[in-house]
Amino acid sequence: MSTHISVPPQLLLERILTLEIVRVTERAAVSAARLRGHGKEKEADQAAVDAMRRELNKLPIEGTVVIGEGERDEAPMLFIGEKVGMNAGPKVDIAVDPLEGTTLCAKNMPGAIATMAMADGGTLLHAPDVYMQKIAVGPGYAKGVVELDASPSDNVRRLAKAKGVDPSAITVLVLDRLRHADLIHEIRGTGAAVRLITDGDVAGVIHCADPDNTGVDMYIGTGGAPEGVLAAAALRCIGGQMQCRLILDTEEQRVRAHKMGVKDPRMIYGIEDMAKGDCLFAATGVTTGSLLSGVKFRKGVIETETVVMRSVTGTVRYIKAEHRQLEKFHLD
Ligand code: FBP
Repeated sequence: MSTHISVPPQLLLERILTLEIVRVTERAAVSAARLRGHGKEKEADQAAVDAMRRELNKLPIEGTVVIGEGERDEAPMLFIGEKVGMNAGPKVDIAVDPLEGTTLCAKNMPGAIATMAMADGGTLLHAPDVYMQKIAVGPGYAKGVVELDASPSDNVRRLAKAKGVDPSAITVLVLDRLRHADLIHEIRGTGAAVRLITDGDVAGVIHCADPDNTGVDMYIGTGGAPEGVLAAAALRCIGGQMQCRLILDTEEQRVRAHKMGVKDPRMIYGIEDMAKGDCLFAATGVTTGSLLSGVKFRKGVIETETVVMRSVTGTVRYIKAEHRQLEKFHLD
């Protein structure tokens, strides 16, 4: 009698891979965390990339990296278009940011994470590594409560009205960049508070989904497009709204984007345009931040904390793990 149990591809993606991808972000986070505070952004990123790739290649998937470390000529590993996995199992799209917040890790500052998303093949936006305008709010509001092309002050007022509070009770999270000086000024002009972060807008967007605990109602600003797609995958799991537009300033960027399937360079993407189908999202803390604890190296044990979500059920799991076979992190 055969003992072979065949797992339907959808079940594999929906359930089994949910826990498998935790290993991927855990290993990337541990590898990066060994270089926390050493001022070596590139080395820390490379360590995370190597670990993530190694773990992805152990998964029973036919994976294609659609959001990665760059394009083939500029990234030796996990480049856009790279095939990962055991080349058996469901065809999936993979979005990775092995070290989101390289500077945070290099400076040992709060909030660096290792993160990835996985979805059925052809369902994640293939975005080039350019900037993206973004606006996001959490769940529970009527569709269109805020809009990318409305002014920041309008958006604050609309959100405040929908929430039934004064604008002064709204907090907007913004990346602390010179390019956001006018944006910050305008938000503050409404009476709303601005919370500034130096890096890490994937976690920044996720914060909007739980304003009671994070104190963040809305994210506005320009950040990386890869981070935008990862954040959209997370919001697809936990609810919320997001609108984004790629910033394609040069002909070269427009050509690159077109080759990736971007027909309208001015298109506004909603969550469903960036993550068209069901997806999984995972992130492990590298340095302790407001979303996750960082990696802890104890005698004989490494501790990690990971959040993993899946859109089919909207389940969010926080997984605290103790890893004892330390040598495996290096040699596997
Ligand atoms: P890296 O980890 O690639 O450095 O990204 C960190 C980050 O802060 C992102 O979260 C954000 O989307 C992007 O950089 C903003 O880009 P910039 O630092 O060029 O303003």
